[in-house]
Amino acid sequence: MLFPDYRGRRLRANKNFRRMIQETKLSRDDLILPLFAIEGKAKKRPIESMPGHFQLSCDHIVTAAKEASDAGIPAIILFGIPDKKDPLATRAYAADSIVQKTVQAVKEKVPDICVITDVCLCGYMDHGHCGFVENGIIDNDASLDLLAKTALSHVKAGADMVAPSDMMDGRVGEIRQTLDEEGFSHIPVMSYAVKYSSAFYGPFRQAAESAPQFGDRKTYQMDPANAIEAIREATMDIEEGADIIMVKPALSYLDIIYRLKQEIDLPIAAYNVSGEYAIMKAGEIMGWVNAKELIMETLLSIKRAGADLILTYSAVDVARELNN
Ligand code: PBG
Repeated sequence: MLFPDYRGRRLRANKNFRRMIQETKLSRDDLILPLFAIEGKAKKRPIESMPGHFQLSCDHIVTAAKEASDAGIPAIILFGIPDKKDPLATRAYAADSIVQKTVQAVKEKVPDICVITDVCLCGYMDHGHCGFVENGIIDNDASLDLLAKTALSHVKAGADMVAPSDMMDGRVGEIRQTLDEEGFSHIPVMSYAVKYSSAFYGPFRQAAESAPQFGDRKTYQMDPANAIEAIREATMDIEEGADIIMVKPALSYLDIIYRLKQEIDLPIAAYNVSGEYAIMKAGEIMGWVNAKELIMETLLSIKRAGADLILTYSAVDVARELNN
């Protein structure tokens, strides 16, 4: 149909028409809120590069989880900042460490919210790498046992889902097998399957105090130039037992989300990462953009590309906006 028979503007003419023909709808159900847990009581330390976000002690995490739940958000993802780091990441899997205690408290006080834990070693290793380091090399296979132990300790503390973000080969299978053997075959694994080596993680590394102390993460995180490799990574994790496949970051990788949506049949999560959040917040603080509209448009684009779930630091604001 061509003009004048077809007039695209007819169905854009008023709010009701626009509502009725909207193809992609953002929902509170899509949102996962990341939170940063620190030791102590009544502590709320602002994260400079992520305005509106804080490192929170357990009591404040419980409050934030309650707030998220009240806003209609189904899940949070927890990152722990331990009191000490060492070359064996012992605080990553200790039963009395930061994530384990925080999970327990949230599950006790806010039982309705789904608690996902980020499973990685970078925040717990003194060198800040996501795996075990031997002679300056990140040793893949030696890291697997530590990662599986970490995931298991989170689940024993009450985590509803684990999310390995380290990018070691084979860790999803190792975690799945360990959970199954220990009687946790019902706990899903959301794999950071397609995680690029990205400058967009900068603010997070400040928030989680997890920047690598030598070199970079390019020997395990993916090259932003690669798309076919994303299919391979996702396929491998699915075969190892992943339940949800994550793409990270989101905005510069919408083509990857779209492509995976065509190729795989599992739910896809996209991580709208710290740098993406920081850029928008900076624009808002400068008064150069309307951040509220920008965030809604951004999340809509991630959903339109094919994401079923979105991890975003804007989750609470967005959920409240969607409630109105
Ligand atoms: C840990 C991890 C990172 C993020 C999530 N888990 C950082 C990294 O790989 O350096 C980034 C999240 C964000 O930037 O919001 N491996």
